[in-house]
Amino acid sequence: MSKNFYVTTPIYYVNGDPHVGSAYTTIACDVISRYKKTAGYDVYFLTGTDEHGQKVEEKAKEMGKTPQEWTDIMAPRFAELWKALNIENNDFIRTTEDRHKKAVAKIFKKVYDKGDIYKGSYEGKYCVSDETFVPDNQVIGENGCPHCGKELRIVKEESYFFRMSKYREALLKHIEENPNFILPEGRRNEVVSFIKDELYDLSISRNTFKWGIPLEIDPEHVIYVWFDALSNYLTAAGYLSDTEKFNKFWPADIHLVGKEIVRFHTIIWPIILMALELELPKKVYGHGWLVVDGDKMSKSKGNVIDPVALIDEFGADSIRYFLLREINLGLDGNFSREALIQRINADLANDLGNLLHRTLSMVNKFNGGLVKNTKVLEDVDTELIALAQNTVKQYQDSMDKMEISVAIRTVWNLISRSNKYIDLTGPWALAKDESKQ
Ligand code: MSP
Repeated sequence: MSKNFYVTTPIYYVNGDPHVGSAYTTIACDVISRYKKTAGYDVYFLTGTDEHGQKVEEKAKEMGKTPQEWTDIMAPRFAELWKALNIENNDFIRTTEDRHKKAVAKIFKKVYDKGDIYKGSYEGKYCVSDETFVPDNQVIGENGCPHCGKELRIVKEESYFFRMSKYREALLKHIEENPNFILPEGRRNEVVSFIKDELYDLSISRNTFKWGIPLEIDPEHVIYVWFDALSNYLTAAGYLSDTEKFNKFWPADIHLVGKEIVRFHTIIWPIILMALELELPKKVYGHGWLVVDGDKMSKSKGNVIDPVALIDEFGADSIRYFLLREINLGLDGNFSREALIQRINADLANDLGNLLHRTLSMVNKFNGGLVKNTKVLEDVDTELIALAQNTVKQYQDSMDKMEISVAIRTVWNLISRSNKYIDLTGPWALAKDESKQ
């Protein structure tokens, strides 16, 4: 079995600062990456920024900057936040970098040369916030986006189309034969019914704005931002530029993404890869949202929490711990300051902090900072040893199932049993008795 592991976050839009919701995906990936590294894997952990498209172009304009100036201001803010959160990514890709732009142009060309791209015209609705086309039968009410509720724009333009429908049966077969390809299961069912109901050819170029990678075959057009963005997973891994690296890490082991973008990663992305005759990622996992009073935390809702302020107040470790302990990865979870403080006080300070403090201070006080293995074991000792060994197994089992919060709970069970062990054995009394020392 290969001991290489390739894990990715989505690449983040730079139309605003990162918030705790965006940090959540990155922290979860970091935890998975560290777990794999500890288990002896050579891990490649990629994150980055998604900088092209109409949304970013419009934001830059609003801020009185060119798109390039704006993205040059914003991309480092993400990189700095990841540093402050102790994220150990191996690479940070920006879609405006040359390495990416060159590779995407080649990817487009390959798919075009294969005959899977044709010219047509698109007339329909588009959501700039989600950077997605919306079929008429999905529009909510008069003109609402079915995903974010925002007002849709009417787009009428010449466009190149990707023959996605050609790959429909192959994709369904792949999903059926690889039950771990899309997780959790509920997400897989949604995707399957989407493919069955409405897998159309996709418009993959735009020609009514400029901020994107131009098509070599028709420079009036820029590549649709999702085609551009998804390709980052290939370009960063060295596709068409570093064969050794690419062969080592592709296919990706896991793309961890928020639930709202699972459909892009499990329909458009695998079909691009099929057209390129490349292997598909082993797993796409859709995590839930951080919600505040029932609403997704998002820039447009104005309910975001600034992670920088939280790190200053509570420290990066507390935030990392809270997010992954409090929220089950596959489900939505509430973010609240009260819950954060409660977890810090109860779990970190009381349970873990107390255990460390008691253990270390007694080892210092009674044993001069050293513990001799006297090989004397009583039942209470063997029970704790067995629990510790079992905890490792259970922890691994949960992590392998992406149940990070369950894995953490397993560790906390050991912590609380260890505290109990101290209460039961009373080292402060044993220390005073020569024969029990
Ligand atoms: N640029 C696209 C992804 C392209 S990947 C080829 C994008 N960017 S995003 O900035 O809008 O979102 C990036 C990630 O942040 C997603 O996984 C999204 O789910 C996550 N989150 C943003 N807000 C979130 C919450 N409130 N809660 C949890 N995750 C959230 O989509």
